[in-house]
Amino acid sequence: MIKKIIIIIIGLAVLLGGAWLVVHKVSKTTKSDSNQTKPVEKSPAVIFDKQKYILTDPTSLWFVANKHFALPISYVPNDLIVPSVPLRLASSEQQMHLRVVTQTDLTALFSAAKAAGLQLQLGSGYRSATYQKTLYDGYVSSLSKAEADRSSARPGHSEHQTGLALDFTRIDGKCHLEACFGDMPEGKWLIDNAYTFGFILRYTSDKEQVTGYMYEPWHFRYVGHELAKEMHDKGVKTLEEFFSLGSAPYYLQ
Ligand code: DAL
Ligand code: ZN
Repeated sequence: MIKKIIIIIIGLAVLLGGAWLVVHKVSKTTKSDSNQTKPVEKSPAVIFDKQKYILTDPTSLWFVANKHFALPISYVPNDLIVPSVPLRLASSEQQMHLRVVTQTDLTALFSAAKAAGLQLQLGSGYRSATYQKTLYDGYVSSLSKAEADRSSARPGHSEHQTGLALDFTRIDGKCHLEACFGDMPEGKWLIDNAYTFGFILRYTSDKEQVTGYMYEPWHFRYVGHELAKEMHDKGVKTLEEFFSLGSAPYYLQ
């Protein structure tokens, strides 16, 4: 009798064990199947819209002024203001003006620079085509024409006429419009940080063959956060390359 009971218990144990194994296997298979069929979630690729702003309208945030693309000689932005930042000249001077769209980011940039212990001021902002002619002619008479063209835009071709470009300088004037500005703490900080405020260094030391201008570590152009960040993140240093405008940095005549 005891023998019978033991055999029944063993039989039941074998049955239960078998049943557990079957259930365990089925649930494992279901789990791994569901893993295989579950779609891999990918974040959608964000495509930068290069056509968000027109490149050929002087009022556009992305207008490209260079040796090929000029502004009408008579063009004057209609929203110039004197930004609330340290100025190199009297506020009544034309060059101390910039377009209103730069104001918020420029004041934020100056505040951040000041907090970092730097002494920056606005050296030159908006320039009329007439004033640009005076500057250019001055370069031509003191240098050769070819050398003048490496340093100064001809009237109608300067970004300064858009009211969106500016030259930074130190309050003490050290390295004003000189390459050594790029080695000063102010120049280094601008090169590293200006893009986070929507400003790009326009004439880098390695892109003269693209822009036609020598290194100007003081000259920055406001293009807005989106484009400045995109160019920085993609490692593209010129508007000409970013917008595939070609590298022909010479005037046609
Ligand atoms: N120095 C820059 C190229 C200008 O004259 O606009
Ligand atoms: Zn400049």
